[in-house]
Amino acid sequence: MPDNEASLTTAKIGIVTVSDRASRGEYEDRGGPAIREYLDEVLSSPWEAVARVIPDEPAVVEQALIELCDQETCCLVITTGGTGPSKRDITPEATEAVCEKMMPGFGELMRKVSLEKVATAILSRQTAGIRGGALIVNLPGQPKAICECLDAVFPAVPYCVDLIEGPFLTTNEDRLVAFRPKKKPGQ
Ligand code: MTE
Repeated sequence: MPDNEASLTTAKIGIVTVSDRASRGEYEDRGGPAIREYLDEVLSSPWEAVARVIPDEPAVVEQALIELCDQETCCLVITTGGTGPSKRDITPEATEAVCEKMMPGFGELMRKVSLEKVATAILSRQTAGIRGGALIVNLPGQPKAICECLDAVFPAVPYCVDLIEGPFLTTNEDRLVAFRPKKKPGQ
């Protein structure tokens, strides 16, 4: 924990809606705003959103992820949509293509908790991975899946961001408690 809360740097967090129809303006993007709302509710440390609404095109998704991680220096990028079995669903592949390390536990846990709510959760191939100083996490496109999935994995996100040398993220503990292993004296 930093000595002084005021020393917390503003974390940049990428919010990427992957949807052909939302990107063409054929329907309103509800996923991106739901992620923003979730982060406003859960994070107590300063953060700012870098949002994108893009089509389900592999090169476009990869480029957006690269830009958010490398140029925008986001420490966390959350995608919504494009995780299913349909022909155009390519978000997990694009994520894997730009990551140096995959973090399969995120997808496993999100599917586990989602399956307790809806049988079709098995249709999501959502995953997560690390690119440089950013953790990328895929969520399904259903707005109601956002809270269900993030509540399951978010307790581990601040420590994951510590491990990739990102900003110190803190949470509103009456809403969600982040888990950080306790340091032994002298460490
Ligand atoms: N997970 C949760 N928690 N809640 C949901 O409603 N919908 C499922 C699944 N995961 C769902 C969920 C459905 S119906 C599909 S097709 C897949 O996510 C993939 O969705 P996507 O292609 O929009 O990402």
